[in-house]
Amino acid sequence: MKAKEILDKAYNTHKLSKDEIKFLLSLEGEEKELLFEYADRVRKEYVGDDVYLRGLIEFSSYCKNDCFYCGLRRSNKEAQRYRMQEDEIVEVAKRAYAIGYRTVVLQSGEDPYYTKDRICSIIKKIKENIDVAITLSIGERSYEDYKAFREAGADRYLMRFETSNKVLYQKYHPGMSFENRIECLRWIKSLGYELGTGFLIGLPEQTIDDLADDILLVYELDSDMVGIGPFIPHPQTPLKDAEVGSVDLTLKCIAILRLLLPDSNIPATTALGTLDPLGRQKGLKCGANIVMPNVNDLKYKLKYELYPGKICINEDATKCRGCIESIIISLGRKVGQGYGQSRHYRLKK
Ligand code: 5AD
Ligand code: FES
Repeated sequence: MKAKEILDKAYNTHKLSKDEIKFLLSLEGEEKELLFEYADRVRKEYVGDDVYLRGLIEFSSYCKNDCFYCGLRRSNKEAQRYRMQEDEIVEVAKRAYAIGYRTVVLQSGEDPYYTKDRICSIIKKIKENIDVAITLSIGERSYEDYKAFREAGADRYLMRFETSNKVLYQKYHPGMSFENRIECLRWIKSLGYELGTGFLIGLPEQTIDDLADDILLVYELDSDMVGIGPFIPHPQTPLKDAEVGSVDLTLKCIAILRLLLPDSNIPATTALGTLDPLGRQKGLKCGANIVMPNVNDLKYKLKYELYPGKICINEDATKCRGCIESIIISLGRKVGQGYGQSRHYRLKK
């Protein structure tokens, strides 16, 4: 197999077989650079030079789950927990709006304190006050909940399936079910949300074969957004001694996903920026078109520790926005104006 041939096929058809994906994941040196060039070209042709910024509000660090990799897991007794109340969340959203954000992402651990009614009320309050798109990222819920959130005004929903390898899924997510997660993602899609999903790169025992399946599952779910990032071991979790995920492999996954889903939104994630000081820049140069800076107060940022060493933890929201804007400009790109709806979603409607 020749890299150029496969890349030309992907460029023309936006389809790849599992073997072809595995081959692309194994590229090194000049051929790897060629993969990145193709992905960058597809990104430019389909979603242009605009990089959209999303203001991330992590409103609760409580979680009822016990995922093996995550610092928020309920068994982590050292984790610092907080819950923001409605008024406070709305205030942060307003501040994000004032400094230029037109999408806010409401994220939390899976925290039942936030009942259906509470979440609906937060969504409505934000929409009454400011003109933003709202992305929810609060995990697995019932169909009725998703429906109510959508009716209350939520536009998008983000939930990674984390890994498509069911054996690994079961192992790292005690008490959870892969089937249920996928069912949730299908419900979300059927309710007309812009759907975002994705996976972790470098979980212990995960293979290249698994990553190819992960990529194909994102494709099959026809995701409007794809968030992927390297695994970073957290010291207060069972995976504390595991090896850190590979930045390079993450970049290759981003590039392949851009070839397969040319008009989807793909963020250069914070985890990528955490492992490599130039990680987000590299992501933006091989297919990514989104960055999701945290807009929360510093006092909360410190406590939402999915993994250690998170970047921007001491930066306030205004400074972060300035910093990321200059990164975007330095790459010859532009800061996207407006909601930045996924083109993939728009064209299907
Ligand atoms: N390293 C990297 N990413 C992590 N996440 C959770 N824990 C870690 C970790 N240790 C990711 C999960 C989740 C997202 C919000 O954060 O993929 O979906
Ligand atoms: Fe937050 Fe650079 S993006 S300080």
